[in-house]
Amino acid sequence: MISPVIFVTGAGKGIGEACVKDLIRRSGTNLGFKPRLYLTSRTQADLNRLAADARGAGVDVGVLAADLGDAPTRAFEGCLKQFGRVDVCLHSAGVGVFKNFLELTREDVAFTMKTNVEASFLLLQAVYKQMRVQKGGMIQWITSVAAEKPFDQSAAYCMSKYAQQGLMEVMRLYGYQDGIRLIEVKPGAVHTPMWGDVPPEMSARMMAASDVAQAMIDAIFIPSRTTIEEITIRPLHGDIQSMD
Ligand SMILES: NC(=O)c1ccc[n+]([C@@H]2O[C@H](COP(=O)([O-])OP(=O)(O)OC[C@H]3O[C@@H](n4cnc5c(N)ncnc54)[C@H](OP(=O)(O)O)[C@@H]3O)[C@@H](O)[C@H]2O)c1
Repeated sequence: MISPVIFVTGAGKGIGEACVKDLIRRSGTNLGFKPRLYLTSRTQADLNRLAADARGAGVDVGVLAADLGDAPTRAFEGCLKQFGRVDVCLHSAGVGVFKNFLELTREDVAFTMKTNVEASFLLLQAVYKQMRVQKGGMIQWITSVAAEKPFDQSAAYCMSKYAQQGLMEVMRLYGYQDGIRLIEVKPGAVHTPMWGDVPPEMSARMMAASDVAQAMIDAIFIPSRTTIEEITIRPLHGDIQSMD
């Protein structure tokens, strides 16, 4: 897999962006690794900036700004149009509405479930089908430690993340049959734009997006006869329970 096609969602910010930067950095080493990248998120300016970085490093890149909730497979179709295949999917796009359980509205729940669950299902189904035709591939989906542990202010978020874990575990049953590797990435608190402004004493306890990206990109290089099924990665001093 010298020149894999890597499709990255949520590529513009946070963990997705850190994955793209890690891939670009590694392509500049003498490992012979030259990924071809297809990047998507909602903000065109973020994608343009990353595409310029990639091209500057000699990396072939395509971008498409799209809202996953409104058009779950549009960007992936763009990837297939440009490169004709996908070897690795890093699915990082996700949202959270963090409020007291008693204050969450129907709209909050619908918004969260639409992006994190329904649209993600449709996207990953399309990616999986393509990998099945290709007889292999790797999907890494960033769920969360909140896919298996309750957090304050996170009823809708946890609900969507538990659902993601359920889907990932079922997909893995198919993956064994089809030789498709499915990695659930479960980070604890990562200092990204998703958190908004956080006090310095909290950000000092959190992981950097690049910490999670490093583990994810390392996982691409495992021997083809093996699969990593989960990457759980936490801040050294454990979970941060509350956003307050
Ligand atoms: N940060 C944490 O502590 C943490 C911990 C565990 C798991 N996670 C999970 O990790 C993933 C990435 O989180 P992050 O912290 O990197 O978030 P982030 O900093 O908010 O970045 C999210 C990225 O996803 C994109 N995105 C969001 N909604 C989208 C939509 N409907 N359509 C297309 N793109 C969309 C955003 O695009 P635009 O900016 O252009 O809108 C942005 O590029 C999420 O699934 C999150 O739940 C995060």
